[in-house]
Amino acid sequence: MSSKLKVGALISGRGSNLQALIRAASADDFPAEIVLVISNVVDAQGLKHAERAGIATAVIDHKGYQSRESFDAQIDERLRQAGAELICLAGFMRILSDDFVRKWEGHVINIHPSLLPAFKGTHVHEQVIAAGAKSSGCTVHYVIPELDSGPIIAQAEVPVLAGDTPETLAARVLETEHKLYPMALRWIAEGRVRLEKGQVVFGGR
Ligand code: GRF
Repeated sequence: MSSKLKVGALISGRGSNLQALIRAASADDFPAEIVLVISNVVDAQGLKHAERAGIATAVIDHKGYQSRESFDAQIDERLRQAGAELICLAGFMRILSDDFVRKWEGHVINIHPSLLPAFKGTHVHEQVIAAGAKSSGCTVHYVIPELDSGPIIAQAEVPVLAGDTPETLAARVLETEHKLYPMALRWIAEGRVRLEKGQVVFGGR
């Protein structure tokens, strides 16, 4: 029997972070395995990465649900059926309900393309450039009900260069995302990071 941490990933689009996680998890010695990928968008490109890797996928279209809670309940059920122990949000463009987040507290992580707490929300690279910031980066954090505000697990910094556009900056940040997210997942799966009483704790069990 596999003792790897079972991960469910939620996506909405391109899925390049998902692909980075899949690639990392394909190594025999990686301590986590992706057991299910759920997309709320029917034709999300990321679904293809999962299918190619032989990972189970599900489309749960939020438009088919009356409320955020009923949509989240369906996600919750599918993740539990798949035996997921940790949820990785990877470009998932829906806000999860407080109830869902509380139920999974300490077991949902997200990657955000800025050095949080700076530049939360959307259009992040536009915000960074408009603010004249000299550096940016990405953050992996535990998810709490407040958007992009959860305890930080890891960050990587990149410079903002003169002449950067949101696209050139996004590409530079994305490269670091693809390294940081698998690294953070490894730490969690190895028990080197966990959430205790709302705080990130580093160190062995
Ligand atoms: C990434 O920049 C991630 O930080 C943010 O959404 C984007 C998703 O990109 N949360 P991809 O779908 O992983 O390629």
